Amino acid sequence: MLIHLKQVLDPESLEKCRATLEQADWSDGRGSAGYLSRAVKRNRQLPDDHPAARELGEKIVRILDGNQQFTAAALPAKIVPPLFNCYEEDNSYGRHVDGAIRPVFGTPHRVRTDISATLFLSEPDSYSGGELIMEDTYGPVEVKLPAGDMVLYPGSSVHAVKPVTSGRRLAAFFWIQSMVRGDHRRSILYELDKAIQRIATETPEQEALVDLAGVYHNLLREWADP
Ligand code: NI
Repeated sequence: MLIHLKQVLDPESLEKCRATLEQADWSDGRGSAGYLSRAVKRNRQLPDDHPAARELGEKIVRILDGNQQFTAAALPAKIVPPLFNCYEEDNSYGRHVDGAIRPVFGTPHRVRTDISATLFLSEPDSYSGGELIMEDTYGPVEVKLPAGDMVLYPGSSVHAVKPVTSGRRLAAFFWIQSMVRGDHRRSILYELDKAIQRIATETPEQEALVDLAGVYHNLLREWADP
């Protein structure tokens, strides 16, 4: 399931975020890549312990805490603190998979990467290329979103970032361990939740709404590990 979350960051938060990143000292992105990914990764990143990365990352997680669509889609149990990357001319990230387990820097905790997230920070017309490509069962899907928007996609998918041919592509990326491990089950719950919300808005007097909400919660009780 691919989910587009619009305007996760408001224009003011976005501007502050970009201003901080413009002044940051970036490192070679290969430092955090596994053996196979290192060969195809050409970008720069802020190190996990970079103060700007920690501060901006915490802010993004706080914002997501209050985002109902994110909660309904991801059903988050744990979130890896967001990291930041920068692609400039000739930078790209070839086909790769993300590791299934990520350590959380500076803690003994680990997160299972059920869901991958990319939060776009640069306006799409400020750089050429840089599309995120997900290999779906229907074929490749290209994603290039407005600044402040975020995409969620299954952590299990093979994906890539196309070469940036001009400009600068800034993004935050991170992983979520969901209370519901499987993408298929999360997708059923998300669709059911959306339908319930729609009925609640259009015909709130429907008595069956309570029953449907009961079905949602009973499925969640069956499938979730909080
Ligand atoms: Ni990746």
